Amino acid sequence: MKIAVVVGTRPEIIKMSPIIRECERRKQDYFILHTGQHYSYNMDRVFFEQLELPVAKYNLDAGSGSHARQTGKILIGIEQVLTKEQPDVVLVEGDTNTVLAGALAATKLHIKVGHVEAGLRSYDRTMPEEINRVLTDHISDFLFAPTEQSKQTLLKEGIEENKIFVTGNTIVDAVYQNLELASKKANVLKQLGLKEKEYFLVTTHRQENVDDKDRFQGILSGLQQLAKEYEMPVVCPIHPRSRKKMEEFGLSADNINLVDPQDLFGFLQLEQHAKLVLTDSGGVQEETCILGNPCVTLRDNTERPETIEVGSNVLAGTIPEDIVDSVSIMFNKERDGDNPFGDGTSGKKIIKILEERL
Ligand code: UD1
Ligand code: UDP
Repeated sequence: MKIAVVVGTRPEIIKMSPIIRECERRKQDYFILHTGQHYSYNMDRVFFEQLELPVAKYNLDAGSGSHARQTGKILIGIEQVLTKEQPDVVLVEGDTNTVLAGALAATKLHIKVGHVEAGLRSYDRTMPEEINRVLTDHISDFLFAPTEQSKQTLLKEGIEENKIFVTGNTIVDAVYQNLELASKKANVLKQLGLKEKEYFLVTTHRQENVDDKDRFQGILSGLQQLAKEYEMPVVCPIHPRSRKKMEEFGLSADNINLVDPQDLFGFLQLEQHAKLVLTDSGGVQEETCILGNPCVTLRDNTERPETIEVGSNVLAGTIPEDIVDSVSIMFNKERDGDNPFGDGTSGKKIIKILEERL
């Protein structure tokens, strides 16, 4: 069996790393195909280096662009590689344009598609990620659902049960594999002058938030109110999309400590020791739930409802008063459930399932 592991963006590299490590451990015939959707050092190569992943055999250098341009470029590039390599299965992870293009190119070539993190739904079709998830799930042959709830979602949409496997989410593997290393190797709190449990950590990059001036302004105002009310620093490793939009809209970030995107060890350390995390990231909602740290989600919906059900997360939207109220709600809330995303063996399970069936 030959596996093509497709990655393109920061979260895909992180969430595919346990699968890549498992392929290496088993001396599996596989190769990495990087689409180059993310390309800045701190959004891409730093994770290969820190996680000690092999260099991708192919890099399509697709880069940034409109949805059609970016997806189209990746689609054409992946088709060429798959035609040459003829893998038995193409693995894609998550909900980016890389994922949709990878799955579509493969299925048209009659190559099997495995979707890691299948069955997530925000039921908000204005999100590009929701379109990518739905379409990818419906053209996949192996749907690796992180939870029983995501499996049920897929069944309701008419996907055959024998294609669905509940494996947990590989983010748990990644956190377990890297947390100890993070505590040994990262020194980010000291570097940023922060004290444990005395700062808020923030990430925001979702298109529907930062490409909309009013929503982005709402988030920044909410954060500024928090800094004032709690007299605590608000640290925000800023995504390149958000930095660009902030400059374009002329938004001010007074009282917010904007820093460059962090490497994984640094970011895990920041997450673990924050008083509370505010985010619109999918991966960060999951990681805070795994680490047992409270999270406020700067969105109106989530495709990770399990995090809310176990009491680790709450939806705030982007109105400043709602953000401040949500922080107070989380400070007074008891956690009432375990991490719902598995035991850290998802990567192993996924490769085993493929080996047994291909
Ligand atoms: C993409 C995914 C999103 C995912 C996120 C992870 C889609 C539709 N979106 O969003 O689901 O949550 O990655 O971080 O696939 N840029 C750089 N350097 C980079 C990459 C991007 O400067 O390495 C800047 C460019 O100005 C670019 C902008 O960020 O135009 C947006 O990049 P893009 O890949 O289109 O989307 P993301 O917002 O990163
Ligand atoms: N992350 C990181 N450095 C940062 C911010 C995030 O390493 O400065 C990691 C984080 O630990 C998580 C992943 O990036 O594993 C989430 O990616 P992102 O928020 O870009 O995308 P999403 O999960 O929303 O698709």
